[in-house]
Amino acid sequence: MTFSLNPADLEALLDFYVAAGVDCALADEPVDRFAETARAAAAAKSRAPSPATPGERPFAAPNRSGTQPPDGQIPGRQIPARQAQAAPQPRPAPGQASKPAPSATPPGGATIPGDEAVMAARERAAQAATLDALRENLAAFEGCNLRLTAKNLVFADGNPQARLMFVGEAPGREEDAQGLPFVGRSGKLLDRMLAAIGLERDEVYIANVVPWRPPGNRTPTPQEAEICKPFIRRQIELVDPDVLVFLGGASAKLLAGTSDGILRLRGRWLDYDTGTRPIKAMATLHPAYLLRTPIQKRLAWRDFLKIKAALDGRG
Ligand code: URA
Repeated sequence: MTFSLNPADLEALLDFYVAAGVDCALADEPVDRFAETARAAAAAKSRAPSPATPGERPFAAPNRSGTQPPDGQIPGRQIPARQAQAAPQPRPAPGQASKPAPSATPPGGATIPGDEAVMAARERAAQAATLDALRENLAAFEGCNLRLTAKNLVFADGNPQARLMFVGEAPGREEDAQGLPFVGRSGKLLDRMLAAIGLERDEVYIANVVPWRPPGNRTPTPQEAEICKPFIRRQIELVDPDVLVFLGGASAKLLAGTSDGILRLRGRWLDYDTGTRPIKAMATLHPAYLLRTPIQKRLAWRDFLKIKAALDGRG
């Protein structure tokens, strides 16, 4: 059976997809990841007992995440030969779909195995002596596959000398398009919240735990967040604000290491240890949550008053 859609219907269908969060084409054809994993496991099993023979791809069995890492992805880090086989996935041109290679990474997986990616991220982050160097290191870092689907790295906005720093979770569509954090609807609300305590956006510094937009605005996986964590930790250390604010439960949980829900956690002063010194930190409600649940703005207002008092030396 063939379907023919007229342009208006097609446009309506695309609008529906975008509204449902499906706004990024990853491949022309559906990919059966379960079959891929099963094939890789079967291949690993059949290869496991026999040593690699000359001419055979050495260590071609899938690694723990079932993927082949790309060649030479982490400068300064020795990548074992077995991980230097597969070519990096080409990034599709904007608006153009591409077919993943058969060894495509499972959703949420990193181009290099998770543990190695975290270690590589730590090295890369620690090597950066300045925010510019950190941005460069992050832009060149290939351990997190979100960079393959994102349009831009969303590193930071605002003033690196600011006394107040905000950390959100991950960029959305607008942020991805502009390469700046909190510039969409949530960002507009954040601007108004700042204005309410007498601050402009260029008087604060804003970043996210994850600097690439997850496709369709999905929540970053725990592995993606762990991989990106060393970079945001280093970013906080380099900005060295007087007050650090986690926007929403995700960044608070990851960086403050607590499992409390945001409604319990918000509004309480915490010590965030940069590794160099403790910083006064507070979690508050994410602006996106406040847009959905405006009645809770009163709680965020209380938090912002405490933040203002702390900056003024009154709290
Ligand atoms: N939500 C976030 O957590 N970060 C952004 O940059 C935008 C929306």
